[in-house]
Amino acid sequence: MNQCIIWIKLLLRKCLSIFQYTKIRTADSHYQMQQFNQVELNADKDIENNLKEELKNENYETELATSDLETKIQSQKQQLIEKQEIIEEIPQPIDISTVRQFIETTPNIDIHNKEILTELGNKSIEIYHSILYDYDGYEQLEDNQDEFSYWIKYIETPEKFQIHQMRYKYTLNTTIQKYMAFMKNLELQKKLDSSIDQFEQHYSDDSLQINYLRYKKILFMDPRDFLFAKFTKSIDENTVFEISKSIENDEFQPFNPSSKSTTRAFLLMSGNYIRQIEENKLEIQTYSECNMKLKLKPMMTKTASKNEIKKLIKKYRDHFNQQ
Ligand SMILES: *[C@@H]1O[C@H](CO)[C@@H](O)[C@H](O)[C@H]1NC(C)=O
Ligand SMILES: *[C@@H]1O[C@H](CO)[C@@H](O)[C@H](O)[C@H]1NC(C)=O
Repeated sequence: MNQCIIWIKLLLRKCLSIFQYTKIRTADSHYQMQQFNQVELNADKDIENNLKEELKNENYETELATSDLETKIQSQKQQLIEKQEIIEEIPQPIDISTVRQFIETTPNIDIHNKEILTELGNKSIEIYHSILYDYDGYEQLEDNQDEFSYWIKYIETPEKFQIHQMRYKYTLNTTIQKYMAFMKNLELQKKLDSSIDQFEQHYSDDSLQINYLRYKKILFMDPRDFLFAKFTKSIDENTVFEISKSIENDEFQPFNPSSKSTTRAFLLMSGNYIRQIEENKLEIQTYSECNMKLKLKPMMTKTASKNEIKKLIKKYRDHFNQQ
C-alpha cells in the first residue's frame, strides 16, 4: 500500500509540474525553457482532480498523503511564481531590426539638452543589455589565455566601409571606483595610448560625459576623430554599465582643432559591462561596433585589431598592478 501511495504521489507531482509548466509557458512566451527539464506533454487539467478523488477514496493514510501533497502543490506554486519574477528582470528581447536601426543611427543632438541625452543614454543601455550575450556568427580569435577572450564579426555598409563588431572579456586587478576614476582621467588615457592626438571633455557629471577624441594619422589612415556621449549607469554597487555612442552636432568645435583634414568616424555602440567579481578584481565585458570609415578587408585587419586591444589592456593592467 505505502509503495503504491508513493508511486501515485510521484506520478501526481509530475503531472502537476507539467501542468504548472504549461500554464506558465502560455502566460509568458519569453519564459526560458531550459529552466525546466521536464518533457513537455499534453497536460490534462483533469488529471489533478481525478487522481485526488481516487486518493480520497482510500484510507486515512491516503488522506495524509493528499494533505501533504496540497502543501507541496502550494510550495511548488510559490516557487514557480518566484522563478517567474526573477525571469521578468531579464530584458525583454528587442527585435533585431530595432537594435540595428538604433546602433546604425547617429543622432543629431543639441549637446546642452540633458533630457534628450538622458533618454539616449537609457535607450543605449537597454539596447546594449539586450545584445550582451549574442555571440552568434562571431569568430573567436582568443580564448581566455591570460584571462582575455576576443571575438570578432564584420559587416559592410552600402558605401563598402568595413565595420568591426568586437566582443572581448578581460579582468583587471582593481575596484569599480578606481576604474571609473582612471577612465575619467583623459590625460592619463592619452599617455597610455600614443595614437591619441586629442582627448577633450566638453561636459561631465556622474552619469554623462561629452567627449571629443582624435587619433593621429596612423600609417595608411588619415586622422580620425569622434564626438560621443558616454553614459554610466550603476545597477548595484558591484555592477556598472558604461556605454559610448557617437552624436552629431552642427555647432560643435573641438578646443584644439586639427590643422590637417580629419575624417569623422563613428562609435556606433561601445559598451562595457563591468562587474566586481572579487574584492580587487573586475571582469569587463566589452562590445564595440565602430565605423572607422575604412575599406580595408577584414582579413587584413582582424589580427591587428585584436593585438591593439590586447596591448591596451596590458597597459591598463600594468597601471593597476603598479598601484
Ligand atoms: C531614464 O531612466 C531613469 C531610470 O533608469 C528614469 O528615472 C528616467 O526618467 C529616464 N529618463 C528619460 C529621459 O527617459
Ligand atoms: C592580478 O594580481 C595577481 C597577483 O598579484 C597577478 O598574479 C595577476 O597576474 C594579476 N592579474 C591581472 C589581470 O593583472
